[in-house]
Amino acid sequence: MKVTIFGSGYVGLVTGTCFADAGNDVVCVDIDAERVAQLQNGEVPIYEPGLDDMLTFNQEEGRLRFTTDPAEGVNHGLFQFIAVGTPADEDGSADLHYVLNVAQTIGQHMDDYRIIVDKSTVPVGTADKVRSVVGQQLRERGSSLEFDVVSNPEFLKEGAAIDDFVKPDRIIVGVDNPRTAELMKALYSPFNRNHDRLISMDIRSAELTKYAANAMLATKISFMNELSNIAERLGADIERVRIGIGSDPRIGYHFIYPGCGFGGSCFPKDVQALAHTAQEYDYQPELLEAVQRVNRNQKDILMQRIREYFGDELQGRTFALWGLAFKPNTDDMREAPSRVLMEALWDAGAQVQAYDPEAMDEVERIYGERADLELCDNQYDALEDADALVVCTEWQVFRSPDFERIRQALRQPVIIDGRNVYTPSVMEAMGFTYYGIGRGESIRHKGE
Ligand code: UDX
Repeated sequence: MKVTIFGSGYVGLVTGTCFADAGNDVVCVDIDAERVAQLQNGEVPIYEPGLDDMLTFNQEEGRLRFTTDPAEGVNHGLFQFIAVGTPADEDGSADLHYVLNVAQTIGQHMDDYRIIVDKSTVPVGTADKVRSVVGQQLRERGSSLEFDVVSNPEFLKEGAAIDDFVKPDRIIVGVDNPRTAELMKALYSPFNRNHDRLISMDIRSAELTKYAANAMLATKISFMNELSNIAERLGADIERVRIGIGSDPRIGYHFIYPGCGFGGSCFPKDVQALAHTAQEYDYQPELLEAVQRVNRNQKDILMQRIREYFGDELQGRTFALWGLAFKPNTDDMREAPSRVLMEALWDAGAQVQAYDPEAMDEVERIYGERADLELCDNQYDALEDADALVVCTEWQVFRSPDFERIRQALRQPVIIDGRNVYTPSVMEAMGFTYYGIGRGESIRHKGE
């Protein structure tokens, strides 16, 4: 089948590449000429395990092409996927500017029936807006061509996006007629094997499903983070509580890991956008507001720990940070808790020595060169003469480090663990002053 994908960002690239890998003929369109030139040379501008090889393979096979020419894209695909960004506006609502620009382009250039698929995360009602923009363009051209609009939200996790696309838990398709539903089913058939994972519904419900899924997951995390703060005060260990409650299948073990807050391109933005939509429709979303508040406070927790131990005077102190990306296996720094910590440390006049297996370039791009930031070549260099080690992201390589080396390199044997990677009793037996998240046990050991 012929597929066009507008937007060669994270979602667009994964979607286009996976469709091409299933044998479809895919054209990806992006307005960023530099990005397109890079992609034409087989250079993938984002870090996603497995994407590089799959992309170049399909490019070589001639099933995947990149262009800046929108007309070429519109003329190519029966399916026109919109996978461009929907950044948060200043008021927290999703900015639909890019999505509607693509809709306009499709309306301007289409010369045959098209299925326009909203893949970007967009507020409920966007499909109607897309429909009206395309319709308007056609009317201006005096054209009576037909088209359909579909909502097909993505559920890709960074770091596992290819797997999530190829073996999805569910494929949500919001449609308003059976013919389009059948065509979407046919397009997704390579990824819909063994048992039917495709769930069709009306368009508005599909649009809301995406927000509902992310808001539910974010709520689980904020709930656990709140509970971790309570556990700490009670002298209980949230990690044992987590295992205790996760064994109930109604609760489950997924997404109940406490930590220094959730980040990324989806959760913070989507919870905010859903809350905003609710308010627009005269509903006060108490729970969604609380989820965001808890998360904002949680991102301050590492700095609070530092102040607890070192006091408020941090001028001249140096802190080693392990892990900067918002989660492991990505270089994405969007809404990363490490940013809140680094910025607070800089405001307090402290130095940061940081290491992340993938996000160093991204950090440099965001913060540039600064005297109070040293980007280190490896995790041990970051420790040299630092006052404490702070773990912000649970990369696998941080799980079993050489603790003796850590102790020798640090000025003081202090570890602040924002992801509960280590075990308090083991750390203390090794002579570290250790702070986890919600681990009352370790607080007690500090000899209250
Ligand atoms: C998320 C959704 O999982 C995905 O379905 C959607 O399409 C996009 O948003 P992603 O942003 O890639 O994916 O990251 P995810 O793995 O969900 O983690 C989000 C954040 O929550 C990370 O900062 C992570 O550290 C944090 N998290 C996750 C916790 O703090 N505790 C947990 O138990 C799980």
